[in-house]
Amino acid sequence: DRSPKVIVVGSRYETDSWFNVPSNIIERIPRRLHLQKDHPVSITRQIIESVFPLPTYKYHNDFNPVVSTHQNFDSLGFPKDHPGRAKSDTYYINADTLLRTHTSAHQADTFRANLSDGYLISADVYRRDEIDRSHYPIFHQMEGARSWDRAKVPDGDVAAQIWSDVEKLPTHNIEVQDPNPPFHEDRNPLQAAHHSPAEAEAVAAHLKKSLELMVVEIFSRAGAAARKADPYFVDKPLQVRWVEAYFPFTSPSWELEVYYNGDWLEVLGCGVVKQDLYINAGVPDQLGWAFGLGLDRIAMLLFQIPDIRLFWSQDKRFLRQFEGVSDDLGALRRFKPFSRYPGCPKDVSFWLGSTTSAAGGGGSAPGPQDFHENDVMEIVRSVAGDAVEDVRLVDAFTHPKTGRRSMCYRVMYRSLERTLTHAESNELHHRVCRSLVKKLGVEIR
Ligand code: PHE
Repeated sequence: DRSPKVIVVGSRYETDSWFNVPSNIIERIPRRLHLQKDHPVSITRQIIESVFPLPTYKYHNDFNPVVSTHQNFDSLGFPKDHPGRAKSDTYYINADTLLRTHTSAHQADTFRANLSDGYLISADVYRRDEIDRSHYPIFHQMEGARSWDRAKVPDGDVAAQIWSDVEKLPTHNIEVQDPNPPFHEDRNPLQAAHHSPAEAEAVAAHLKKSLELMVVEIFSRAGAAARKADPYFVDKPLQVRWVEAYFPFTSPSWELEVYYNGDWLEVLGCGVVKQDLYINAGVPDQLGWAFGLGLDRIAMLLFQIPDIRLFWSQDKRFLRQFEGVSDDLGALRRFKPFSRYPGCPKDVSFWLGSTTSAAGGGGSAPGPQDFHENDVMEIVRSVAGDAVEDVRLVDAFTHPKTGRRSMCYRVMYRSLERTLTHAESNELHHRVCRSLVKKLGVEIR
């Protein structure tokens, strides 16, 4: 049959009008940085795994990134009109197949497989997003969960079992600023139809203590690396706080924040797993918690890596600095930046179609309604690859008479590995402008 196909790591998929994955993304799918020995993302995974030991937790690190919309959204209770489903935010292979946007896409299947009390899933995830030094369309997440089975606990007293597991966790002496934030009764209810108050409280206590221990482990490694770089470095006591959050598949839900460099930094999202997930996965007697975090941001902080693009670099000056750390986490050191090459900023200004002509369609410039900034990001990235550091909107206005909208973006070209010549950045920028005209139909000013 002649329907269009795409090959993603050896498997063939039919595409349709939803397909929006550029080849520079497809080429990078096999890289799997979270499994590359001595890579900072992989080392960060190992550090976190050490806090959730076998055999209670089982590790799943090679699930396929191509999943169904059911796995990524429906199985988790995302409403049909959730913005995360938009083509402007997500990479689709076809209308019901996509590149996972989070590791939670595997929650339901992993509960159904029921192989262990707990699990950790580490994986590459994909999102259409802005371009700057901390955003990349491919990044890595780790998902963790811990469940208890009512049918396997003496007298069915699962709360008592969970509390005894809480007692077995090591102690820590960090300052928890807000251990029990109040939560919104409608958005984040206790699941009273499924859990007794004692069960809900026990699950939350096990969740919070486990995740607090995890940040203690990460930040003590970061402190040790800082002391190696600077013998006068003084570790400040770690401060953390719990903040209410919302996820469609947990209730109640929280984010854990850590005080770092003068700011509260969001480290992870988590919550008590909605009972529907266990019921739909055929394990209705189970209950428990889940969390998800971004490995790249944590790796950047641990190693003091200034630009997320460095993770994709094959430059020996980068990779050599981490050699041996996978086998000896105590050898972790901060990254020593090699020279920062000069950047070359260039502006591009263009008109979108007018509000009225947008309805007319037919190849004219998109009207303000169907203009998505992420499309600009994608075009710049497809042309310039990792030679683009940052893209930001510097000006936008609507012409008072014609009603047309004008946008101006500033693109910063900078290679991490060498100096770009003026001729090279000019050439890249020309190609970006041409591609904007061709793919978005805008009119360059
Ligand atoms: N998947 C969520 C995200 O990407 C994080 C999360 C995982 C929240 C598990 C709760 C439980 O933001």
